[in-house]
Amino acid sequence: MRDYPGDRVDLRSDTVTQPTPPMREAMSKAAVGDDVWGDDPTVIQLQEMVAGMLGKEAALFVPSGTMSNNIAIKSQTNHGDEIVTHRKSHIYLWESGAYASLAGCSISLVDGDWGQMSPEGVQNAIRKTAGSNSHFPDCKLVCAENTANVGGGSIYQQEALDGICKVAHENDCRAHLDGARLFNAVIGSGTGPARMVRDFDTISVCLSKGLGAPVGSVLVGDRETISRSHRWRKTFGGGMRQSGILAAAGIHALENNIERLSEDHIRASRLAEAISRMSSFSVELEGVQSNMVYVQCDEGSAKEVANRLASRGVDVSEETDSIVRAVTHLHITDEDIDRAIEAFEASQ
Ligand SMILES: Cc1ncc(COP(=O)(O)O)c(C=O)c1O
Repeated sequence: MRDYPGDRVDLRSDTVTQPTPPMREAMSKAAVGDDVWGDDPTVIQLQEMVAGMLGKEAALFVPSGTMSNNIAIKSQTNHGDEIVTHRKSHIYLWESGAYASLAGCSISLVDGDWGQMSPEGVQNAIRKTAGSNSHFPDCKLVCAENTANVGGGSIYQQEALDGICKVAHENDCRAHLDGARLFNAVIGSGTGPARMVRDFDTISVCLSKGLGAPVGSVLVGDRETISRSHRWRKTFGGGMRQSGILAAAGIHALENNIERLSEDHIRASRLAEAISRMSSFSVELEGVQSNMVYVQCDEGSAKEVANRLASRGVDVSEETDSIVRAVTHLHITDEDIDRAIEAFEASQ
């Protein structure tokens, strides 16, 4: 059921969700304080809740996933260190080079199918100053992403995540997980959140994607790292005041919107299967594992296809010149998927 008025089928991203009436009610009733002073009870409740769900000591509420990732990088590296991540990761592609501009780090990139790194790939990408006659920077942080967005929303096998953390730690690096869509990975894999992130030192979880909150991410880890992160949140301008209003939306999302992510995954699969049967488009079905469908436009550019879909009331995002992306979320119904399939058919 669509919870907000609108006659478009907005598949551009799961970030477009609107707070639902019960979420708005929870926000309006939130007890608040000044979180920069550390006395907002609802923020404290959210932080303890997420740390508990992930089996870690502490958590920090921050305005965005980008800030969360970059606080994690800043808190676990020194200026001049190097980080390792996938060539298609959000940290590398879509965060404005903040690993360099804010943390002063260089980056070593790993390739791999579906936006995923292998432990071997990570091992090969790690460079250490010691033994290099000071030619190499010191890699101090390995960053994985689950689900892997530009990897099609793919979900890592648990052994690969464990293996990546093992390689990181053996090389005296910390391990960070960009879990913007951690709960999509949890629901899609059936692995519990604490088990999934067991070996990671820090994890960033977004509340404002599939979970449906309007704003906010939570950075989770050990007490000492989160306490350092508190300082960098301030430096990056992310200290918020009566942010319990926003934290209440996050708590509501975690209490109500995790299990239902499976509906988004089922709808994405149905859309992907239907599009894959159309002659002008291809979809690698193997990679459709959560709420995203990356569609290769075999005839016409992504822009042309997106415009044709838009003229039929269906919005998608253009990922490259030839790929459009459709993302299912809280406000996408079965009828919307029918309409999207018809629009793709008519846009060939
Ligand atoms: C995998 C991933 N990480 C991080 C982010 C950043 O989140 P935000 O838009 O809140 O900065 C996104 C945003 O889409 C994302 O897809």
